[in-house]
Parts: sequence; structure tokens; C-alpha cells
Amino acid sequence: MVRVALIGCGGVGQAFLDLLRDRGPELGARHGLDVLVVAVSDPVRGAVARAEGLDVGALLAALKTTQGLATYPDQGGLSRGWDSLDTLARADADVMVEATPTTPSGEPATTHCRTALERGQHVVTSNKGPLVHAYDELFHAAAARGVRLGIEGTVMSGTPALRLARETLAGDTVRSVRGVLNGTTNFMLSRMEGGASYAAALAEAQAAGYAEADPRGDVEGWDAAYKLVILARHVLGRPLAVDDVERTGITAVGDLQQAEARDRGQHWRLVASLDAGDAGEGPLRARVRPERLGAEDPLAAVPGAMNAITYRTDLLGAVTLMGPGAGRRETGYALLRDLLDVVRAPGHPGDEGGAR
Ligand code: HSE
Repeated sequence: MVRVALIGCGGVGQAFLDLLRDRGPELGARHGLDVLVVAVSDPVRGAVARAEGLDVGALLAALKTTQGLATYPDQGGLSRGWDSLDTLARADADVMVEATPTTPSGEPATTHCRTALERGQHVVTSNKGPLVHAYDELFHAAAARGVRLGIEGTVMSGTPALRLARETLAGDTVRSVRGVLNGTTNFMLSRMEGGASYAAALAEAQAAGYAEADPRGDVEGWDAAYKLVILARHVLGRPLAVDDVERTGITAVGDLQQAEARDRGQHWRLVASLDAGDAGEGPLRARVRPERLGAEDPLAAVPGAMNAITYRTDLLGAVTLMGPGAGRRETGYALLRDLLDVVRAPGHPGDEGGAR
């Protein structure tokens, strides 16, 4: 039995609860995942906590019908109104699932992660901010406490881009990274290629739950830059500050540019790359920029909110992974997948994270 405190129950947090409810029996039978949600806290939607466990179906009913937790029924022993830090201090959780939105400062999520790890709680997060601002500190804290820090959902949602590089390709060495790493802009560019306006394409991406709370994070390339910072540290073992990413967003890709690309059979993509020369040991160049790609480029064919990443490796050459890059359920799955690792290896000394 693993006791979970969920911090942040917007679209991604609710999708995580949906998965627990819908897939719970199968996860229990096949993977031994037996989850007791003991607290949910969200600055907008409210908070409930109960040591004996909350009813996930009732949580979802309250969240989906009233957009808040005030109507969650008290079956006895219920506490209401704990903020995130109260929750971490009082809920007696084994794992904090952190699903608050990414902010440029990385807060309050970095404080949530730091606090939970210091308390010896495992952390599973889809929030990029803590990794952009405090990767080494957090992984060291996890290792010192012998707990896990799961971050799969920070890059390409539930598509296992980080696991592929760190676990599946163990023994090989990744030298460079090139990808389409933002779902919102790829969705928008795909729609605009079909004739949609920039504004309509953005509105559709927001409605589908792909965009950041402030969509400038997507269209100006910040989100892809954050992912490069995480990939640089986690996959290449290279520290990178977000200010060192050369960054151009998609706002300059207008109708004219789309028409020109179409005439030549090309596609605009927001390409994010990490390159340190052929041997992978030179100065690291990190770049996010719109590029017009010909059909021969595998990234040209990435449709809608899909993303793709190509790792150039020593032993296998180029290895490309394509899959969903954004979305509520897709990111909720990443949280669930990281939670499975907590259960499979209780007390595992963190992901080998900062050691690389
Ligand atoms: N806004 C992000 C995107 C969400 O569109 O890719 C996933 O990180």
C-alpha cells in the first residue's frame, strides 16, 4: 500500500486520479500497485485529507461537477483546507505527486519537492520548474534520503523519452539530442499548415489541454528550452542554464512562411537541439528555433501534438522516439508510470539522477 498526497489537481492531477480509478484493479493485479490517496491540495480547488484514505471516485465527482473540493463528502476524519505545505507536513504520505503548473520561477513546485524529499517522501512530478532550477539539489536530496524522484512527465509527457535515454540505452552514450519537444506549437503549426489562423490554432491547443497556463511559455519557446535544460543534465550529464539556450519562438511563422514551405513540400517545426560537436565533448550549444524541414527529415512528419526526439548515440547511431508530447491523460500516465517505480523498488536510492 502506498500513501499518496496529490499537490495540484488541475487537468493533469485529475487525469492521474482518473487513471487510478479506471486502471486501479489491473495495476494492483499486474504490478502490485495499491494506492491510497490520503490528501489532495490545490490552491484554487481546495484541499481535503483523510488518514484512512479518500474516495477517488468522489474526489473526481466533486472536481468535475463543481470544479472544487468543497462538496467532497465527509465520511468521518476528514480535514479540509490544508495548503500544500500543511499537507506535506500532516498527511503522512509516502509519495508526493506534484502536478502543479510550471512557472518561470519554478515555484511553488521547487519548494514542494524540496520539502517532500527532506521529509523522506518519494516525489513524482510533471513540473519542469524544479528540475530547471534545482536539478542537482533535488536529486542529491533524494539520494541522501533513499527515496525516488520521478520526472518522466517533464519531457514528452508520458512518452518515455527520459527512460529511453537513461535506462533502455544504458551502456551506450548519447552525444546529441534533436527533437520536436513542444506539443502546443507542433499542434499549432500543423493546424496553420492546414489553413487555420494562429489565434484559432492556439485556442484549440488550449482547449485540448496542451498549452501551459501562460501559453507564451509555449509559443515563445520557453517550454522547449526548459526541456532542453532537463535533457542536458539528465541525459548528457551537462549543466545548462535556461538563459544559455538560444531561443526563437513560432510567433514569426506567419501565413507567408507557411505558404512558402507548402510550395516546396516542406513543414515548419519548432526544433530543439543540444549539440556538443561530433565527440559530444565540446561546448554545449542549445537551441530552440522554427525550422523549415524537408520530407526526408523524420521530424517533418511529426503531426499535431505529437513530439519526437532523436538521440545520436555511440553504438546505435540515431535512435528516434515519437509519441504524445502533451495532454492531460498523457501526462497523468507519466505520473502513474513513475509511481510504479516507487512501488517496484521501495526505498530505492533515488533515480541515479545527479550522478551522471
Ligand atoms: N505545454 C507543453 C507542451 C505541455 O505543449 O508541450 C507538455 O510539457
